[in-house]
Amino acid sequence: MRISKRVEQMAPSGIRAFFDLVLGMKDVISLGVGEPDFVTPWHIREKAISSLEKGYTSYTSNKGMPELRQEINKFLGERYGIAYDINEEILVTVGVSEGLDLAFRAILDPGDKVLVPDPNYVSYGPTVELAGGEVVQLPTNIKTGFKITPEVIEESMCEGVKAIIINYPCNPTGTSYTKKELREIARAIIKHDLILISDEVYDELTYDFEHTPFATLKGMKERTIYLNGFSKSYAMTGFRLGWAAGPADIIAGMTKIHQYTMLCAPIISQIAAIEALKTGFKDIAMMKREYLRRRNYMVGALNDIGLSCHMPQGAFYVFPSIKSTGMKSMDFAKDLLNKKKVALVPGSAFGKDLDDHIRISYASSYDNLKEAIARIDEYLKELKHGKKARR
Ligand SMILES: Cc1ncc(COP(=O)(O)O)c(C=O)c1O
Repeated sequence: MRISKRVEQMAPSGIRAFFDLVLGMKDVISLGVGEPDFVTPWHIREKAISSLEKGYTSYTSNKGMPELRQEINKFLGERYGIAYDINEEILVTVGVSEGLDLAFRAILDPGDKVLVPDPNYVSYGPTVELAGGEVVQLPTNIKTGFKITPEVIEESMCEGVKAIIINYPCNPTGTSYTKKELREIARAIIKHDLILISDEVYDELTYDFEHTPFATLKGMKERTIYLNGFSKSYAMTGFRLGWAAGPADIIAGMTKIHQYTMLCAPIISQIAAIEALKTGFKDIAMMKREYLRRRNYMVGALNDIGLSCHMPQGAFYVFPSIKSTGMKSMDFAKDLLNKKKVALVPGSAFGKDLDDHIRISYASSYDNLKEAIARIDEYLKELKHGKKARR
């Protein structure tokens, strides 16, 4: 066989499979993609353009430009009161995506296990497995607002678990944690001597309380691979830029892989990212205000039309239940797409027990969201009439 067993056995992304259906359809309101609907702020784009004009077209240091690592460290200090050694403990990556891949490959030996929340961001499981690790599910459910608790960690722990990955605010549920909740989770992580991969790519989109990075909690910095990036906060998905901060030995391991596979992140993106960190806080505040307005509208509207929806604390997703329809999430999503031209993501793409949920991204204009809600409402009413007529 030409393809390795490991890749052959990998399931294709549930999101991709669904969005292949959307391609080619006209007038679809797409609430499926997980990326900001804002364009990168102009002053950041301008820096990228001028960097090209000035001829910045070379490789950079493997770890990323020192000035960028300095700015990342400054941001972490000013914002969260945490400091890293910029030469030993910070690595600039090609998005959080590369950070995830490097983290798992740097720490896992064949058969090592990783606790992965269910539901989770679609790339966690495959990335763990490509690194030779095994996934152990950490089940969460609507009763706890999809939160991971120390009890769930205790129940899921088994021989060979080396690490845990936590993403907050969470894709797909929007769930986040207060400092008190994080402290409780941290205690369980320390008790079992786990390495934490903390994916905080949505940190700036936390609405109801202050975001607390795990690495700022007592006993956590030395065991946390702290991942973040520019895609969501600054609407810079296409720049493909992120960073990892963590203990020197792990960052050295990640850097080894990075220097052979990626060499460095693109210099143009790094220059743009320096600008984002220096002056982008106003842009973040503007986008956050708009996402918050949309979140409040979506949660209210979905509950009003009969799809029960908990209040997410962050990111730009709502994760309502479709239990009332009695349909499986893929059937619901396909039927809604065909009949009303609204695209959203079936819950089944995010975990095995999520077939009675759908993920809706509100990274789309307020008008689009209103129109989508009207179409979903119509669809639900037609479903009800259809059921009555069949009786
Ligand atoms: C939870 C989570 N982590 C990581 C990523 C990837 O981020 P990046 O664009 O920085 O690679 C995403 C993108 O949707 C995400 O939702």
